[in-house]
Amino acid sequence: MSSLSLISSIVILTNFCCVSLILAQQPYEGQAFTDCYNPDTSKSVLGYNCNGFNRSCQTYLTFRSQPPYNTVSSISDMLASDPFQLAEINSVSETATFATNKLVLVPITCSCSGQYYQLNTSHTVVHGDTFLVIGNNTFQGLSTCQAIMDQNSNRTTKTLYTGTRLNVPLRCACPTKNQTDLGIHYLMSYLVSRGDFVSKISDTFDADTGRTLEANGLSEQDPNIYPFTTLLVPLKNPPSSSQTIEPPSSSPPSPVAHPPVSSTKSKKTWVYAVVGAIGGGGFVLVIGFIIFFTFFHRRDKKKTDSVIVSESLDAVEKPLQKNGEEESESHEFLESISRDIAHMALSLKVYKFEELQSATENFSSGCLIKGSVYRGTFDGDLAAIKKMNGDVSKEINLLNKINHSNLIRLSGVCFHDGHWYLIYEYAVNGPLSNWIYSENNDGKFLNWTQRVQIMLDVASGLNYLHSFTTPPHVHKDIKSSNLLLDSDFRAKIAKFGLARSAHAQNGHFSLTNHIVGTIGYMAPEYLENGLISAKLDVYAFGALMLELLTGKEVAVLFEQNVRLSDRLNSVLNNEDGGQSLRQLMDPALQESYPQELAIFVIRLIDNCLKKTPGARPAMYEMVQFLSRTMSNSLTWELSSNIQDSGAVLDGIETV
Ligand SMILES: *[C@@H]1O[C@H](CO)[C@@H](O)[C@H](O)[C@H]1NC(C)=O
Ligand SMILES: *[C@@H]1O[C@H](CO)[C@@H](O)[C@H](O)[C@H]1NC(C)=O
Ligand SMILES: *[C@@H]1O[C@H](CO)[C@@H](O)[C@H](O)[C@H]1NC(C)=O
Ligand SMILES: *[C@@H]1O[C@H](CO)[C@@H](O)[C@H](O)[C@H]1NC(C)=O
Ligand SMILES: *[C@@H]1O[C@H](CO)[C@@H](O)[C@H](O)[C@H]1NC(C)=O
Repeated sequence: MSSLSLISSIVILTNFCCVSLILAQQPYEGQAFTDCYNPDTSKSVLGYNCNGFNRSCQTYLTFRSQPPYNTVSSISDMLASDPFQLAEINSVSETATFATNKLVLVPITCSCSGQYYQLNTSHTVVHGDTFLVIGNNTFQGLSTCQAIMDQNSNRTTKTLYTGTRLNVPLRCACPTKNQTDLGIHYLMSYLVSRGDFVSKISDTFDADTGRTLEANGLSEQDPNIYPFTTLLVPLKNPPSSSQTIEPPSSSPPSPVAHPPVSSTKSKKTWVYAVVGAIGGGGFVLVIGFIIFFTFFHRRDKKKTDSVIVSESLDAVEKPLQKNGEEESESHEFLESISRDIAHMALSLKVYKFEELQSATENFSSGCLIKGSVYRGTFDGDLAAIKKMNGDVSKEINLLNKINHSNLIRLSGVCFHDGHWYLIYEYAVNGPLSNWIYSENNDGKFLNWTQRVQIMLDVASGLNYLHSFTTPPHVHKDIKSSNLLLDSDFRAKIAKFGLARSAHAQNGHFSLTNHIVGTIGYMAPEYLENGLISAKLDVYAFGALMLELLTGKEVAVLFEQNVRLSDRLNSVLNNEDGGQSLRQLMDPALQESYPQELAIFVIRLIDNCLKKTPGARPAMYEMVQFLSRTMSNSLTWELSSNIQDSGAVLDGIETV
């Protein structure tokens, strides 16, 4: 570490003294990117110098679509780009999958970080990674081993461990004053591939070859460029998707999803376009997944060693099987919480055990909700108090930082006599599971709109967890008994005991060797191989939506219908005039639901339950689909109230 930081400080010093010499151009990296331990930085291997007119600018990268980075969402996640802008500039929908090797334009914001321009993203180390492999193979040359090492140089060890998260600075630059004066607004970081040469690239993007050479410090005498390096292409206007069509490429652009307009016909078109776009990528993804699997299978045979099915709702948290690492983590956490309790208390109240005793009438059976969860009253406010064993550090750490109305709020903690007590906000209507299985709902049932609202709530909570927590988290245990309903029947996700960070954000997967979950909700790749990604939650969410529509436990559904997908398909294909839809839907709904929307939700379910994780939609897409479903449901509800109960409506065609 010390030698490396010494080197980098020398580098910084040298560069400061040379700033004036390199104002006009960025040196081309050439083949220096392969020489990871060579401290020579005259070749821009640490990044392009911060010499522009502006310290920050909008610009573009290029990337060649390669599974698993072949969808709008996976590429934008990986390269810290905005999926909406990425879809727009490539003229595809946000759910599109790109053909393998397709040149994708990636709009980004590039800014100075100290000496260099860069865009920060991150990478979770997978088996077989080296700094060179990450820079050259995974990021295709958008970063270099030198830059990644430099920016992770405070790590105590140089060994890369699977699961470690690394900062990855992506190579980008902003135009210099001279370039700006010439009307050049963007320096696109183009990834050179085999057979490319400067004039060909310049022509493709309407750039001037002389200016491109100049921008990269190349001369006409020596214009050699190499694959897996970046070439800055000076552009006056943003690049366009028509410039990325390579002659032999034959893939038609993916269909563009349009938002639904009020007419039924266009609404349906939208549904099909979306479903088509989601389904269309399947094939490419399947191949990617097979490659991925053959790669991983070799090493991680040991992992499916235990299946713990968490049987009951709020039973005392089972201590997970622990390895040494987890135990020491938990120990450290205990120490940190007791050492620094005042600090924690800033956001989390630390209760005295006596306070809990008086809130729960000394944990009387009258206050028992279920298992080890008690109802407590603090100053007239209700709270749920859960007694836990084992490692609760993850749940506390996670809940302590999140704040979202669809995720249960942790308000305090208490540690007493070897047990943790977590104090949560109280959800009056209890677990969703009490409301959807007809047997135990005491004649009360949720109507269609309430069910859709619950789906939307859960999707929003999961989307927050997947995309807006740092690092991103996977809940891993979505099921109806872990969702609580408040007084307005709005859903809150609870029980974060199994939640863990997953860098699925960047399209990576992590692996686990203890499989924990509930039958029916567990995605096949997790059950079989312990793969963890946000797509696990998407699968479980699909199972949950199915329960909400059918009123049956998903475990039962899977048992009864070995061919659940056939059953969904027969609804979707409408082979029998709505018969199979009526059979599938919860009888408690008494056929009072908009059929077309029900079929749309079944389509969503079918997509969430896809065997291939990559073929499942992302949670943010589910939020979009379900928001539309929700607003259409409200319209339906309004008009069905006007027209008296259950009538078929104008504008909602029954299929
Ligand atoms: C930048 O532009 C100025 C004036 O046009 C010119 O004199 C100077 O040489 C340019 N700098 C470089 C390094 O090209
Ligand atoms: C530099 O910043 C100014 C103002 O912030 C902006 O108008 C201009 O477009 C920027 N130039 C580039 C090349 O991004
Ligand atoms: C960079 O990656 C490509 C394929 O991803 C590979 O063919 C090439 O050999 C790699 N270069 C180096 C120097 O490892
Ligand atoms: C990028 O990450 C580095 C640390 O690796 C940090 O110093 C820098 O401030 C970050 N830059 C931006 C723009 O976030
Ligand atoms: C390295 O530095 C970053 C930011 O300064 C910090 O978040 C990280 O924990 C450090 N890593 C180590 C191993 O010290």
